[in-house]
Amino acid sequence: MSRGRAGLHLPEKMKEDAFKITTDETWHAQFTYDTLKQVERRTGVPTHMPETPQFVESLDRIHRRIDPDLRGIDELVFAVVSETLISNMLAEIPRDERLPVSVRELVADHAEDEGKHHAYFSSLLEYVGT
Ligand SMILES: [Fe+2]
Ligand SMILES: [Fe+2]
Repeated sequence: MSRGRAGLHLPEKMKEDAFKITTDETWHAQFTYDTLKQVERRTGVPTHMPETPQFVESLDRIHRRIDPDLRGIDELVFAVVSETLISNMLAEIPRDERLPVSVRELVADHAEDEGKHHAYFSSLLEYVGT
């Protein structure tokens, strides 16, 4: 979307914000990986990240089967659904006092970003629907 390759004609501000979301998600991936490695070092329990997450394989299957004229809408729908669902889940975790403060703060930071992403993808859906 930021580079205009999603088949959408977005206003410049929405393209700029899409770049910021890409940066946010890269940071989320980095600190999640870092947290996993810290847990591994402290507990001695090996962590495992699949080479390809299962949902990516499912999405690829859907993408291959979809009518070629509609290809791309599946990715857009997935982004809208996932980016608007995760913010509510993440907002709950920092309030869970059973978790270590460091985990709660980390998730709170992520939740703040995802709240912005939620707003972006909600407005994107409205924009595309008009
Ligand atoms: Fe994220
Ligand atoms: Fe996000």
